[in-house]
Amino acid sequence: MVELQSVGFESELSLFKYDTLEQLPESHRDLDEAARSRRIAAAREELGDRVIVLGHNYQRREIVEHADFIGDSYELSKRAAESDAEYVVFAGVTFMAESADIITDDDQTVILPSMEASCPMAGMAEAVQVDSAWETLVEESGGKDIIPVTYMNSYADLKAFCASHGGLICTSSNAADAFEWAFERGDAVLFLPDKHLGRNTADELGIDEVVEWDPWAGDVAESMGAADEVEPDIPDLGDAEVILWDGYCQVHERFRVDHVEEAQADGAKVVAHPECRPSVVAAADEVGSTSHICDVIENADPGETWAIGTEVHLARHLARWHPEVDVRPLCGDACMDCNAMRQVDPNYLTWVLEELAAGREPNVVEVAPEEKELAAVALDRMLEL
Ligand code: 13P
Ligand code: SF4
Repeated sequence: MVELQSVGFESELSLFKYDTLEQLPESHRDLDEAARSRRIAAAREELGDRVIVLGHNYQRREIVEHADFIGDSYELSKRAAESDAEYVVFAGVTFMAESADIITDDDQTVILPSMEASCPMAGMAEAVQVDSAWETLVEESGGKDIIPVTYMNSYADLKAFCASHGGLICTSSNAADAFEWAFERGDAVLFLPDKHLGRNTADELGIDEVVEWDPWAGDVAESMGAADEVEPDIPDLGDAEVILWDGYCQVHERFRVDHVEEAQADGAKVVAHPECRPSVVAAADEVGSTSHICDVIENADPGETWAIGTEVHLARHLARWHPEVDVRPLCGDACMDCNAMRQVDPNYLTWVLEELAAGREPNVVEVAPEEKELAAVALDRMLEL
């Protein structure tokens, strides 16, 4: 087991994964769009093919317009690995930049425009916290052979933890295959960090013995000064086939089955991301990753109406990219943008590109070598699915 790099369980769990927060300098705070575009173009001209810019589907228009590739997190990492670019500027969130660092060559440097872009869901399962729960989980399950499976939306140290406990990584497109892989090797799956994706996958496979594990139960008792009187609420893991870590994405939790039914009553079909609640997924017409959502709209017939159950920027991009289709966010103005993705302000993009052009390297995301090696093992297991 690698030495865990995250903050201690007993200290505050970090909101930001990295503490090397380089703040945007004053000089870049008030650029308007025209000035920004000119300066980004000049910096890119200077850097030539030494740099590629990757834009996640959830980034705003002013970012994706400057991206060489737009896509889902894993697809973008693969683009980075296929390129020879010395610098990979990843307009996304920390775990995505880490994944890119894991799969790119050692002579490629991954830059995250804003180090504050940390996915709250990835932060709900810090490796150090999972590590400290592991023994209890195994004990409470009666010594079952538990295989940890983590969603791509997790930090590198958790991916490394999974590898060192016989587990693997999955994306939202291959979670069912990852579960099957795990059941060939063990008795139960611990799925992290997204309970909804885990439950949706268990439903898809017809698995009923599913329990939720609240990693905060003991902490809450302690913070109330009641650690001695209040026993943490430990569920019965005896028959559990799937144990769900109690993490979730607030952007996707926002959607309710009423939103799906209202959209359908209004003549729309609904496509939802599997991070949505199981009731939403069950009622949707289509379910899939952000790439799948893009494919659905690309293949829709002109005049069709689709309501998009994922982060609102992707819904807006799809409406812009496919004016022949009526594309709308699933819950209208109540749909959320992702507050982690939002940290990547276009002024940050201008700044990091100008810094690179000037020979400086701001906001480098570099996974520790031993973590990288193990996380790559978990990733390879996924690639063999
Ligand atoms: P993708 O893996 O489809 O890019 O989704 C990432 C994400 O953050 C979903 O909330
Ligand atoms: Fe994380 Fe949700 Fe944002 Fe995706 S949409 S990066 S899961 S907070």
